[in-house]
Amino acid sequence: MIKVSPSILSADFVNLERDIRALSPAGADYVHIDVMDGEFVPNITIGIPVVAAIRKITELPLDVHLMIDRPVRYVDQFCDAGADIVTCHVEADSHENILAAIDKIHVKGKKAGVVVKPKTPASAVLPFIDRVEMILVMAVEPGFGGQKFMADMMPKVRQIRGYIDAMNPGCELEVDGGVDPNTCKVCIASGANVLVAGSAVYKAADIPARIRELRG
Ligand code: DX5
Ligand code: ZN
Repeated sequence: MIKVSPSILSADFVNLERDIRALSPAGADYVHIDVMDGEFVPNITIGIPVVAAIRKITELPLDVHLMIDRPVRYVDQFCDAGADIVTCHVEADSHENILAAIDKIHVKGKKAGVVVKPKTPASAVLPFIDRVEMILVMAVEPGFGGQKFMADMMPKVRQIRGYIDAMNPGCELEVDGGVDPNTCKVCIASGANVLVAGSAVYKAADIPARIRELRG
């Protein structure tokens, strides 16, 4: 079964509680929270207090995507705020420090993942693959919602699906960026099992129907 992780970056922040409470009855599997620091990406979004506030209003697992430099500095705080899955970009620090971040997330009893930007090759996940519960492949340059899906990322998704099947079959494979009722199909065919969707969910007239469509 394909899971859908709606990105609240496309929610109405004035009505964030309403837009998050809508997700569970609509059949969403996770809530995707995009954390940006204005350094790793050219945008600033949601931080630790907002994750803690969101934790109070939903039982859905919080899928926290850290687009921040040197995430090892902050993973403990995101876990304490209520994140269930914390993903760190492999480009954001040294291998040693990304491994240290993964260990800290696990010590908190949470799931850890690594993320690759579009220009980062599939092989960049190999140092981490046996230590994570999720690998996230970006299908847009991180920083903004509503960008065009990069179909040329799909060979990388296939390649990582091959690594996962061989080395860590329980690991989830998530795609983020530009996923809609059309592009979801090639993501699923390429081996993804979790799809992030921001604008496709929150711009839909019927969110439950849209989430069903995104499952392919
Ligand atoms: C982009 C974020 C995405 C974004 C997806 O940096 O990581 O999660 O919100 O938005 P859509 O689905 O609109 O491309
Ligand atoms: Zn994201």
